[in-house]
Amino acid sequence: MNKLFEPAQIGDIAVRNRIVMAPLTRNRSPGAIPNDLNVEYYRQRATAGLIITEATAITHQGQGYADVPGLYKKEALDGWKRVTDAVHAGGGKIVVQMWHVGRISHTTLQPNGGSPVSSTNKVARAKTYLVNADGTGSFAETSKPRALETSEIPGIIDDYRKAARAAIDAGFDGVEIHGANGYLLDQFLRDGINDRTDYYGGSIENRARFTFEVVDAVTREIGAGRTAIRISPVTPSGESYDSDPRKLFTHVVEGLARHDLAYIHVIEGETGGERGYTQGTNPPFDYKDLRQAYERAGGHASWMVNNGYDHQMAMDAVESGRADLVAFGKPFIANPDLVERLQKNLSLNTPDNATFYGGGAKGYIDYPRLEKVA
Ligand SMILES: Cc1cc2nc3c(=O)[nH]c(=O)nc-3n(C[C@H](O)[C@H](O)[C@H](O)COP(=O)(O)O)c2cc1C
Repeated sequence: MNKLFEPAQIGDIAVRNRIVMAPLTRNRSPGAIPNDLNVEYYRQRATAGLIITEATAITHQGQGYADVPGLYKKEALDGWKRVTDAVHAGGGKIVVQMWHVGRISHTTLQPNGGSPVSSTNKVARAKTYLVNADGTGSFAETSKPRALETSEIPGIIDDYRKAARAAIDAGFDGVEIHGANGYLLDQFLRDGINDRTDYYGGSIENRARFTFEVVDAVTREIGAGRTAIRISPVTPSGESYDSDPRKLFTHVVEGLARHDLAYIHVIEGETGGERGYTQGTNPPFDYKDLRQAYERAGGHASWMVNNGYDHQMAMDAVESGRADLVAFGKPFIANPDLVERLQKNLSLNTPDNATFYGGGAKGYIDYPRLEKVA
């Protein structure tokens, strides 16, 4: 049997295979509250070794798209408890992706219609997803952000800590800090966005400070073995550019090596796009070097890879030891029973991207299951 299908220990979390469901925003939790549809969706996918939930706002301020779930109110946590119970009943494990979108938001989604917050007051040329009064969805330009005061940052770090505690109380096996894809932490990391002059801006050490302080606070609260982080060293989402991503992310992983984290989740190339995409440096970003830098610094968390993996690539990555875990995104949307399909080497359903965001059961829980296909 290929190692991809073998059990593993990821920090404090024992998983029955190394196939991970990547975080996938689906915009089906009005009021930030997971509902019956979400319970069924995650229950269907419980055979994954590990499910990472869709990105979930740590606070109302951290929300940037319509109908995404949250971790900041009782009804939402009660909804998540039903999800975690369903996944555990199916023998699966589930962590929540903790999200603060920073400037990738819209005033209509913010508390009291305020400005989104960021490392900067420069607007991102990026789109967010809104649901109109008549229930139809549409994409809109993000709103101009307000640069956070230095004195506000400890409060946001504490929001991450509280959200992590709430997640564990709601039955999650751990949390994944969303440090990827141009959201708040990435907005601090990158010199193409961060134009601060305080000790959260300027040098790489200063730009990485916020991420490290969040990791410190979360690991102190729930333990490093239940804490993970996702990074996307070269993804340009939300205009996240850096002049030297190699140097920046070497520093990031060296800092992360201070904790015995559950896993480091690395998106290789442009999220959802070219695996060979790179920025800032020439030659292309080297993920093997990144892992070596992490291990040289004493890190030994599991190494999770993502982006455009198929069956063979995933088996090769794990069998060769290049990765410990492989996260699949789009394949899990259309194949709730992806693990069984890969195990039996069966064909996969193709997801319909028109159904990715919002709406009812269509393209969400209504894909043909294995028992129904020949
Ligand atoms: C519909 C959709 C929603 C996504 N939502 C998230 C998200 O909430 N958080 C995140 O980190 N990445 C998100 N991503 C990126 C995926 O996790 C993954 O990195 C990407 O799809 C590439 O993996 P794949 O080739 O296996 O699909 C999303 C992707 C898609 C297609």
